[in-house]
Amino acid sequence: MTLRSNSAAARDIAFHLHSYTNAKKNEAEGSLVLSTGKGIYVYDENGKAYLEGLSGLWCLSLGYGEERLIEAANRQMRKLPYYHTFTQKVADVTVDLAEKLIALAPVPMSKVFFCNSGSEANDSVVKMVWYYNNALGRPEKKKIIARQGGYHGVTVAAASLTGLPLNHRDFDLPIANILHTDNPQYYRFGKPGESEEQFATRMAESLEAMIQKEGPETVAAFIAEPVMGAGGVIIPPATYFEKIQAVLKKHDILFIADEVICGFGRTGNMFGTQTYKLQPDIISMAKALSSAYLPIAAVMINQRVYDAISEHTGKLGSFAHGFTYSGHPVSAAVALETLKIYEERDIVGQVRAQAPGFAKGIQRFKDHPLVGETRSVGLIGAVELVRDKQTKEIFDPKLGVPAYCVKRAQEHGLIIRAIVNSIAFCPPLVSTGEEIAEMYRRFGLALDETLAWVKEQGLASAA
Ligand SMILES: Cc1ncc(COP(=O)(O)O)c(C=O)c1O
Repeated sequence: MTLRSNSAAARDIAFHLHSYTNAKKNEAEGSLVLSTGKGIYVYDENGKAYLEGLSGLWCLSLGYGEERLIEAANRQMRKLPYYHTFTQKVADVTVDLAEKLIALAPVPMSKVFFCNSGSEANDSVVKMVWYYNNALGRPEKKKIIARQGGYHGVTVAAASLTGLPLNHRDFDLPIANILHTDNPQYYRFGKPGESEEQFATRMAESLEAMIQKEGPETVAAFIAEPVMGAGGVIIPPATYFEKIQAVLKKHDILFIADEVICGFGRTGNMFGTQTYKLQPDIISMAKALSSAYLPIAAVMINQRVYDAISEHTGKLGSFAHGFTYSGHPVSAAVALETLKIYEERDIVGQVRAQAPGFAKGIQRFKDHPLVGETRSVGLIGAVELVRDKQTKEIFDPKLGVPAYCVKRAQEHGLIIRAIVNSIAFCPPLVSTGEEIAEMYRRFGLALDETLAWVKEQGLASAA
């Protein structure tokens, strides 16, 4: 691609190191430059429209152009554009948001700690868990178990929790005291003849074995997304969390629910915790908390965790943790308005109403020669691409088959994401039935073109 030297794409290459991007590829090809957004569509600098099949990064729940959020930010900017939460100070609107979140909590929670991203939330959780056990006089109880395929962010502790090889490789991660147990994807890791329930039992037994091997007195917490997002939209197998939680309870291990994607309606309940009957001690949240209009994230802790932390800060003199922008009033005002909109428009009801059509649409791809499995809950789902439907063999990752499909979708005006071997779908929560159908129509074109390309390149399975 030739770029004008003063074009945004050329200047982007010149001046910008992108997140999660192959920099060499970007130098050669440039990036898609987006200019405006309306509803569930984003428009590039030439005016071409793209349907937001992944809600930005699983976050833009209310779509673009929500005037009430713009107004909420405006009002707060004029009233009090900044305050912090250090040394016994707080903006009034931040208090309102904390109170609202505790009222919405899916299980009894005591306090909210604010930060600016899902990664900061999970880094804060790791520090809180360590602090908590030091406060209780159990300095050896520090290990945190996450899962292979789990995604918890990119800051040092959060990236360590993340169970994806590229997040560790050459970043010298994970740090000490972070372990990874099995990925609970039944389709890929279930044994022949093993039922979903038997697979879940095996997952729980494997967790138990890890805890026994490490010594239960050294294991502090277990962290899980209710539905794994960036690991490929992995929906927990039947009875999985019930069995996992029994193991955690037995060994006095805290359960952390990472609700950064699932929180605020995505799975058809306000929280994934409700969908999967979880009993977390700590919940991290971000993304749809403000419909992504401004950065804000939060950690909720229960009374037991708070009491220990509070007591300890009394002894040490301060909870020496927090960010300049923790509980930023403009972000808090936008989050508060977002939550109001969710309630007034019954966003959970809307997701439940659209979920059957969303599921049916994705299931229609099941018979496609390139598709091994389709899965969904609420308004999140994935299509897993395979080279061979029978053996579930995947394409050599170097061939970039899922990436090719995503590129074709972009040509058809659909932004989706290739993750691991799957293509993920996570449209804005306000998407209508017609918009969801349009998303799948565009994806169908891309998938057929991918099949044609695979055949042309001689990559198709002989089967
Ligand atoms: C489940 C989950 N946790 C944490 C994060 C990290 O959030 P952020 O990118 O805001 O740091 C993400 C981001 O996608 C996520 O999906």
